[in-house]
Amino acid sequence: MNYEDIYKDVEKRIPEKRFIHSIGVAKKAKELAKIYNVDEEIAEKVGIAHDLAKNLSDEEMTQYANANNIEIDEMERIKPELLHGKIGADVAKKVYGFNEDMQNAIKYHTTGRANMSILEKIIYVADKTEENRKGIRFNLQKSRELSKENLDEALIFLMNEFIVYSINNNIVIHPETITARNYLLINKK
Ligand SMILES: [Fe+2]
Ligand SMILES: [Fe+2]
Repeated sequence: MNYEDIYKDVEKRIPEKRFIHSIGVAKKAKELAKIYNVDEEIAEKVGIAHDLAKNLSDEEMTQYANANNIEIDEMERIKPELLHGKIGADVAKKVYGFNEDMQNAIKYHTTGRANMSILEKIIYVADKTEENRKGIRFNLQKSRELSKENLDEALIFLMNEFIVYSINNNIVIHPETITARNYLLINKK
C-alpha cells in the first residue's frame, strides 16, 4: 500500500493527538533514514503506522492477540497495552503488506530487542525524539542531537533515560529493554 493510503487508514484508527505524534514519527524516521542510508519511503510508512493499534482497550488487545495467534508474554499479561506493537505489526502485515523488517520495527518500537536492524533502531529513536514529543521521561534536546550523530549512542542514551525514569517512579522494566541495552553496550564499536 502507498504512503497516502496507509496515512488515511491509520488516521481512522487512532485519536487526533496520537495521529499527530505518528506524523511526527514518520517525518523523523524519514530524516533518520536519509542520514543512515535506509529507504526513506519505507521508514516513513513504518513511522506513520507504528502506533496504529494503540487505541484498542486492554480487552480488545488480548482478544486480538488470542484470535490471531499472537503470543502474550508475562509482561503483556500484566500490561496489555504493551501488545500494541505486536498487534500493530500483525495488522500492518495483513492490511498494508509490510515486510518482516517493517513488521519488526513496529513490534519492537516500545521495548527494543537484541540485534536490532537499522530500521528498527530508526523507529525506536524516532518514536522518542519526534518534534511533538514532550520531554517527561527523556532529555529531548540531547537525544535529538545524538539521533543525528550516532544511532546506537542515541538508543543507549534513550534506554538509560527510560530505565532511570522507571526506577525513580517504581515502574516495571520490560526485560527486552535490558537485553537490547546490553547488546548495544557489548557490541559497541
Ligand atoms: Fe507505541
Ligand atoms: Fe509512538
